[in-house]
Amino acid sequence: MGLVLVLLLGGVAWAGGVALTGGVASGVPGCSPGCECDADSALCRTGGPAAPRPLPPRLAALSLIGWRVPVLSEGAFADTPDLQLLGGRGVSPLSPHCPPSLITGGRLGTIGDGAFAGLVLLEYLFLEDNDIGSIVPSALRGLRGLRHLSLANNRLETLPRGLFQGLETLTQLDLRGNPFVCDCRLRWLVTWLGGAAPPPSEAGRCRGPPQHQGTPLAQLQPRDFQCMASELRPFQSLPFSSLAAEPFGQGGQVGVALAQPFAGACALLEWDQLGGRFRAPTVVNGSSPVACHPLQLGGTFLLVVAQLAGGSSVWRRAGGPGSPFVLLQTLGTGRLRRPHAVASARLGGQWYLGVADSSKGGTSTVFRWGGRGFYPHQALRPWHRDTHLEFLELGGRPAMVVCSGGRRPLVYRWSGGSFAPHTDIPHVPDVYAAKHFRLRGHVFLCLTRFLGDAKVMRWEGSMFREVQQVPARGSMVFQPLTLANQRYVILGNDFAPTRLFRLGERGPLEAAQELLLPTPRAFVPVTVGHRHFLVAASFRGATQIYRHVTVDLGD
Ligand SMILES: *[C@@H]1O[C@H](CO)[C@@H](O)[C@H](O)[C@H]1NC(C)=O
Repeated sequence: MGLVLVLLLGGVAWAGGVALTGGVASGVPGCSPGCECDADSALCRTGGPAAPRPLPPRLAALSLIGWRVPVLSEGAFADTPDLQLLGGRGVSPLSPHCPPSLITGGRLGTIGDGAFAGLVLLEYLFLEDNDIGSIVPSALRGLRGLRHLSLANNRLETLPRGLFQGLETLTQLDLRGNPFVCDCRLRWLVTWLGGAAPPPSEAGRCRGPPQHQGTPLAQLQPRDFQCMASELRPFQSLPFSSLAAEPFGQGGQVGVALAQPFAGACALLEWDQLGGRFRAPTVVNGSSPVACHPLQLGGTFLLVVAQLAGGSSVWRRAGGPGSPFVLLQTLGTGRLRRPHAVASARLGGQWYLGVADSSKGGTSTVFRWGGRGFYPHQALRPWHRDTHLEFLELGGRPAMVVCSGGRRPLVYRWSGGSFAPHTDIPHVPDVYAAKHFRLRGHVFLCLTRFLGDAKVMRWEGSMFREVQQVPARGSMVFQPLTLANQRYVILGNDFAPTRLFRLGERGPLEAAQELLLPTPRAFVPVTVGHRHFLVAASFRGATQIYRHVTVDLGD
C-alpha cells in the first residue's frame, strides 16, 4: 500500500476513529493551522471556503472537515498531486494499513470541471454527506487510477452522462442516499450499471418520478424509461402572410393551398425536391381571397376562391401538377357578400360545397356539383353572420355545424337531401369556428372563441357536451390535426404564444409545446417522404413551416 491521499470534505458527522497515525498538530513543516499532519496524511478542519494551505507536498491522504465551497473547481488539489485517498467514511477501505477516512458534513454544492485534475495517483475518493447538488460531466476527468468512488448521501437528483468515462480502474461505486429522479437523464446510468463490466455498485434508490419511487436503480432496465419525445422546430419562413390554409393532393403530390388576402393571391405550397425546401407559387390572382379551397373531383383539381371583394369563383387546373388554373365559374351570384369559410363533402354520392357568409344580408349557402359547376342547393338561415361551416358525421349520418357571430353554433343533420336544423350547442354564444375530430368512435368538436375559453365538446348521441376548456382569450384558431401519426390540437393566439397540445389516450389535452407565432389562423400538416411538417398561416406575419422531429431525451 502506497501513500494514501484522503480528501475529507465535511466534518460535522465525522465520527471518531480517524487515526491519522502519528498526527502532529504542528511541527511538521508545511502543515497549515487547523490541520493535523504527519509526513503523508493530513486532517483539516476548515469551516470556510478556503482550502488549507500549505500542506505537506508529499501528502497521500487528506481529510477536509467542514469545508464549504459552492463550486469545487479545477486546481483545488494542485498542491497535493500525490494524493491517493481523498475522503472516506466509516471503516477504511484501506484498512488495516491505511487510515480510515471520512468526507462528511461539508457543503460542496457543485463538483465542477476537472475538480480532481492532476490526482493521477488517487485511488479512493469519498465525497459523502457533503450536500452535493450537482456534478458536471467532466468532474472526474484525470482520475486514471481511481478504484473506489463514493458519492453517497448527497443531494444528487441526477448524474450527467459521461461522468464515469475514462474511469477504467473503478472497482467499487457507492451512490446510496441520493434523491435520484429516475427519468430519462438517468437512463445512461441504468444502461451502464447493466453493461458488460460495471464495478460492484450500490446505486441507491429512486426518489421519483412516482412510477419508480423507491425502486433500486439496479432493478431498472433501460426500457423502463419513456424517452422519445416529439417537437416542432422552425424549418422555413415564407415571405408572405396568409389566412386560410388547406391540404391538397394531386398526382401523388401533396401540398397546401394558401389564401393571401393582402397579396390578392391563391398560392399552392409544394415541396421542391431539388432545393430541399418548400415553394409557394401563385396559381390564381384575385382581389382579396379569404379561402382558396382545393377539391379533387375525380381527375379534376378544383380551387374554390372565396373573396371579400370582386366575387367568388371556381377554378380548374388545366392538367397535372404545375399546369395553370383556368376560370370555371363564378360562384353564388348575389348570395355571397362576405364569404368567410369554405368546406366540401361528399354526401350520398354527390359533392357539396358549403360557404359561410358573414355579411348581414348575405346567406350561407350549400352548393351541389352538377357536373360542370356548383349550383345553389340550399340557402341557410339569413342574417346569421356565419363565420364557419364544418361537415362531419354524427351517429353515422351527415351533419353540419355552422358558427355565427353572437349566436350559438347550429348543428344540422342531413335529411331528405338537405340539411335540417337539429340542435344548437348550449352555453357558447360566441364561437368563431368549430372543427371536429374522431377518437375511439367518438366525435369531438374544438370550439374556437376569441373572448371566452376554447372548448372541446363530445357528441353524446343527441347533443354536444363539454369535456374540456382551455383559457384562450385572443384565439382565432383551435384546430385538431394528425402529425406524424400523432394526434394534436393547436390553439393559436393573437396575444400569447400558440400552444400545442397532445391528445392524450383518454381525450384530454396535454400541453406539449409553445410556439411564437404572430396572428396564427390555420395549421396544416404535410408529409414529404419520411419528413413531417406543419404549415402555419399567419394573418400579419410570415407564413411559417415547422418540422416535426422526434428526439431521444435520454441522449
Ligand atoms: C399573378 O400576377 C403576377 C403579377 O401581376 C404575375 O406575375 C403572375 O404571372 C400572375 N399569376 C397568375 C397565375 O396569374
